[in-house]
Amino acid sequence: MMSEPTAVLLTGASGYLGGSLLVYLLHKFNLRSQNIKLFTLVRKAEQVGKVLELGGDVTPLVGDVQDAEGIKKLVIDNSVSVVLETVDARQFAVAKPFIEALTIVKERLNVPVHFIHTSGAKMFSSHVGVDQSTFLKDDGDVYATMARLDTRHPVMKQFVSLNNQIIDFAENNGVRSYIVAPPMVYGPGTGFGNKVSIQIVALVRVARALGQLYQVDNTDTIWPLMHIDDQVTLYVTVLSNLLRLQAPYGKNGIYFSENGTFGWRSLSLAVINALRNRNSIGIIHKLPVATDEDLIAMGEVLDCNVGMVPVSLAGNCLIRGNNARKLGWAPQHDVEHLMSNVDNEVAFIVKEDSTFVPKAQLVLP
Ligand SMILES: NC(=O)c1ccc[n+]([C@@H]2O[C@H](COP(=O)([O-])OP(=O)(O)OC[C@H]3O[C@@H](n4cnc5c(N)ncnc54)[C@H](OP(=O)(O)O)[C@@H]3O)[C@@H](O)[C@H]2O)c1
Repeated sequence: MMSEPTAVLLTGASGYLGGSLLVYLLHKFNLRSQNIKLFTLVRKAEQVGKVLELGGDVTPLVGDVQDAEGIKKLVIDNSVSVVLETVDARQFAVAKPFIEALTIVKERLNVPVHFIHTSGAKMFSSHVGVDQSTFLKDDGDVYATMARLDTRHPVMKQFVSLNNQIIDFAENNGVRSYIVAPPMVYGPGTGFGNKVSIQIVALVRVARALGQLYQVDNTDTIWPLMHIDDQVTLYVTVLSNLLRLQAPYGKNGIYFSENGTFGWRSLSLAVINALRNRNSIGIIHKLPVATDEDLIAMGEVLDCNVGMVPVSLAGNCLIRGNNARKLGWAPQHDVEHLMSNVDNEVAFIVKEDSTFVPKAQLVLP
């Protein structure tokens, strides 16, 4: 006789990461053979039907991650023992009630409980002051490295201790934590909601609004990349292994998702030229260096403080993701794939990003 199924709750069903993962779990992953009962969180009642339209065996739950008591109740009432969080990389207040509720489920059912937190590569980059002379490996002592950091950036400094805080809180509450840190994720999302990502979308928005992209950093900085399909299989690899209690967790459970790096200048040049091509304008071979005025204009397009512009589309991030690979994860898309697909990527973003109304004059539609 089969034991009770493991109740897994995936948040962010209408999001880029969560939505793509949900579709994979429903249609490419054998939930039954893994003995999983899948729940997914949406925050609007009208999204329930969208989840059900996907087909497959999933129970949508309606809730808001800002409502701590409501979230705890959802987790406890449904005896959820695995939470896969893809909504909020930045707030401990979002992770906390999930972890507290998992502790209660653990006591009640006497089973191991797991919290997967989606973080981001920015939190392990030059933007928070991580040493860029060598790669930071996720199977090294990332926890200690982060604990030692003295971050100067006025915004990023509030986030730098967050992952360690989650690890500590989970450990103190008997919950196994897994920190998944995606980098610049690209490729069409497959969920029912948002289908586009963040950083490459920021490049396209700036390029469309200002008719230009710029060299933001003084040096030719590099950043890790990840195709959405590989990002999804990383989550699935961690999930499958944690169910067998084989995935490293806590201070050893940090999972950088990366499959190589791209140069911000090369990608920016390719994006602006993809837009120029669409508009029958000759391509350029070099980006202008961003002036203070350009940075201010970019901040206006991205609706952020000028100090956050380099955090959005520049910087250096040297990370290596060994932990998921040791569990069998084998990403398929590398920098060659990214750079040879920029035209398609830009076309897809322009089509999907229909609500974007540039504050500045739209130069490249
Ligand atoms: N995409 C990337 O390249 C990337 C890279 C590194 C880190 N991350 C981080 O990963 C997380 C998800 O990214 P994403 O690209 O998937 O973002 P996204 O497409 O904007 O998805 C966010 C999801 O969270 C849901 N959500 C937002 N606020 C909520 C609330 N208060 N209660 C319940 N659900 C709520 C959204 O629901 P609605 O549809 O109702 O808004 C949506 O389903 C973010 O924290 C992001 O910073 C993303």
